Amino acid sequence: MKKNKKCNNRREFLKTCGLSTIPFLMPTASINAFSSIKDKPIISNKNQPIVNFIFDGFNFSPQEYIEKLTEINLSNPISKDFYGSGGETELLEKSFAKITGKEKAIYLPTGTMANQIAIYLLNGNNTKVIVPENSHVYRDEADAAQSVFNKRLIPVETDNAYFNLSELEKTIKETNNNEVFKSGLGTVVIENPIRRANGIAVPIETIQKISNYCKQKGYKMHLDGARLHIASAFTNVSVLEYASYFDTVYISLYKYLNAAGGAILCGDAEIIDQVAHQIKIHGGAAYKTWPNTSVALHYLQTIEEKLKQVKEITSILIPELNKIDGISITKIENGTNLYDLKLSKNINSEKLESILYKEHYIWISSANQDGITRFAVNESLLSRDIQDIIQAWKQSIIKARN
Ligand SMILES: Cc1ncc(COP(=O)(O)O)c(C=O)c1O
Repeated sequence: MKKNKKCNNRREFLKTCGLSTIPFLMPTASINAFSSIKDKPIISNKNQPIVNFIFDGFNFSPQEYIEKLTEINLSNPISKDFYGSGGETELLEKSFAKITGKEKAIYLPTGTMANQIAIYLLNGNNTKVIVPENSHVYRDEADAAQSVFNKRLIPVETDNAYFNLSELEKTIKETNNNEVFKSGLGTVVIENPIRRANGIAVPIETIQKISNYCKQKGYKMHLDGARLHIASAFTNVSVLEYASYFDTVYISLYKYLNAAGGAILCGDAEIIDQVAHQIKIHGGAAYKTWPNTSVALHYLQTIEEKLKQVKEITSILIPELNKIDGISITKIENGTNLYDLKLSKNINSEKLESILYKEHYIWISSANQDGITRFAVNESLLSRDIQDIIQAWKQSIIKARN
């Protein structure tokens, strides 16, 4: 199997993608171990909330999360659920069914469980599932499909970040031709945007072609859309349109919706009605889910508008930062909200990181071995005045010069 050049090998991935990839891989508790800043994270204050260029969203501290829950509860008392039934959880599920245009949606404790259960149910008695080689399903779910769900994941060979229709057809043909005892292929999985490929979005034309082909052949399609809202904001393809090409769609509650954890799976009633039983038998049925779903529901109300603003502000911010001597921020081709930040040799990146953090409450990742810092824009950008952020960078760069 050829290695996908876009960060497929885990070690290579860490090496080439630097700290900026860590938030996508690790619990946030581990992040400080990889940051050059060893102090306890600053708690955001009302006048100067933290702007981070690292995470998908705000990455709330426990104190901030408690404050957010309190604020939500004060404006509209949070109603509780019972093992995911009723309350905020039901409201969230109904909202997601509407947003994705699907009959139903259901809360799950993790995205991993959402992906695995969706694939298992869509696949029926078929054993084979086609997956992107660089996907979370294939590389980061501890072989759950093989070891728990009795499904065999087959990666599509490609030199690009995502496979196209002819590469998919080639993989299916080769699998069929090379196996004597045929067992069925049930599902094709796509991840969008692609975490292991710097947040690149799969072009909508590619998704359309694959979806038409799968419909003709009778294959089901699952979308790992953990970060679908950010893809939508940066490609102008609605979540509704993306979802229309898939039988099931998973979206994370803790990436762009700022909850402490959780996932939503959307699809036809025929599939979603079977999910609760699967969650239970795999030990995932939690007594109370409102601490996650109330926060996600709160952010869901405004996510599209806010991410649109993030995109607009970014289009002002990046050219302004690029005017500062020694800074170069470049867009990733087909990318969404991740950029490459490179500093000139006379700027000490660790010093810059520390000054921005301690003096301006701006948090950036450490540079990787090639001197590139992954620069992510998210909703935290909206919590401060853009000119204030630009000034903070200008002042910090002067101080960080060698
Ligand atoms: C693309 C993608 N899919 C699925 C998941 C799994 O989510 P969870 O951590 O809720 O299991 C992640 C988590 O990082 C992800 O990035």
